[in-house]
Amino acid sequence: MPTPLIERYRDRLPLEDGDPVVTLNEGSTPLIHSPRLSERVEAEVYLKFEGSNPTGSFKDRGMTVAVSRAKGAGAEAIICASTGNTAASCAAYAARAGIRGAVIVPEGKIAIGKLAQALMHGARVIALEGNFDQALEIVREIARKHPVELVNSVNPYRIEGQKTAAFETCDELGEAPAALAIPVGNAGNVTSWWAGFQEYGASPVLYGFQAAGAAPLVEGHPIENPETVASAIRIGNPARWEEAMNAFTASRGRVAAVTDEQILQAYHWVASSEGVFCEPASAASVAGLLAHGLPVADGMEKPETVVCVLTGHGLKDPDSAIGKAPAVTGAKAELSAVEKAVFD
Ligand code: F0G
Repeated sequence: MPTPLIERYRDRLPLEDGDPVVTLNEGSTPLIHSPRLSERVEAEVYLKFEGSNPTGSFKDRGMTVAVSRAKGAGAEAIICASTGNTAASCAAYAARAGIRGAVIVPEGKIAIGKLAQALMHGARVIALEGNFDQALEIVREIARKHPVELVNSVNPYRIEGQKTAAFETCDELGEAPAALAIPVGNAGNVTSWWAGFQEYGASPVLYGFQAAGAAPLVEGHPIENPETVASAIRIGNPARWEEAMNAFTASRGRVAAVTDEQILQAYHWVASSEGVFCEPASAASVAGLLAHGLPVADGMEKPETVVCVLTGHGLKDPDSAIGKAPAVTGAKAELSAVEKAVFD
């Protein structure tokens, strides 16, 4: 039987004694060795495939903890702003907890699978005529005014839950990796991984990657109108800006940008050459390694073991996949026609 993340790491999570465990058996995601990526970046690279969480993204690690605490504290509703994955996770855990869920998403800018999830789980889905940053500002205000728990990564329990990805990775490798490559949007996840490594007594080099059209941390100022094909990280003013920058500095790592073209190429490449299908935003970490390699500060050795976080499942966003992949081959229902289609 898979064990809920909260049971596995209860002593390292800040839940209260009476809190219920609201779980879908999240975590325990595969760490997949990546021979071809290893060859290309000249290090041992592993893919931490967070797409195999119950709702298909890493958000579930934080959501199980945030919703368990919210329910324990008597909350009857939870709310979030989202580029899609937090919405799907929030909706699923609200359903599981038997409380109401509301999600605010940028209209027309979230992948179709994520929208389907949020709707099927019964959340109130509000399409905002605006972007993620505006949505987050509004839900923060709503949570101040109304008895509803905010479950974005500004919620500390989200960060606590997501740090378990670092524990799992270190336990499985037998030690911390020398480096971590990770896509960065609102900057909650990199903050979580760093917290997890620190608790583990480890300090791997952090390589964060943002989409070039939505790279406030790289440019050093908020981006008013962020744009990228990687809709999950279309964010111009990350809530965990300072924590993330502190983590990059402390780890002697860096944050860099990758273009949409590099993201889409890496997205297709990792699916077709390693058999691992992640969503475009997740492929930013692969694109970053391919584009920038493993630069290190003076006097440091090049990392030998690298974990590349694939944050969400490729099935979330079939439109991007169909747009990128080659066309299907049609055939008449006759042996010779199919033979021709298969072998030509
Ligand atoms: N990858 C995916 C697939 C995401 O959905 C997100 C964030 C990130 C990376 C970036 O993580 O924000 O912690 O730096 N998605 C949020 C959402 C914003 O609403 O689903 P971050």
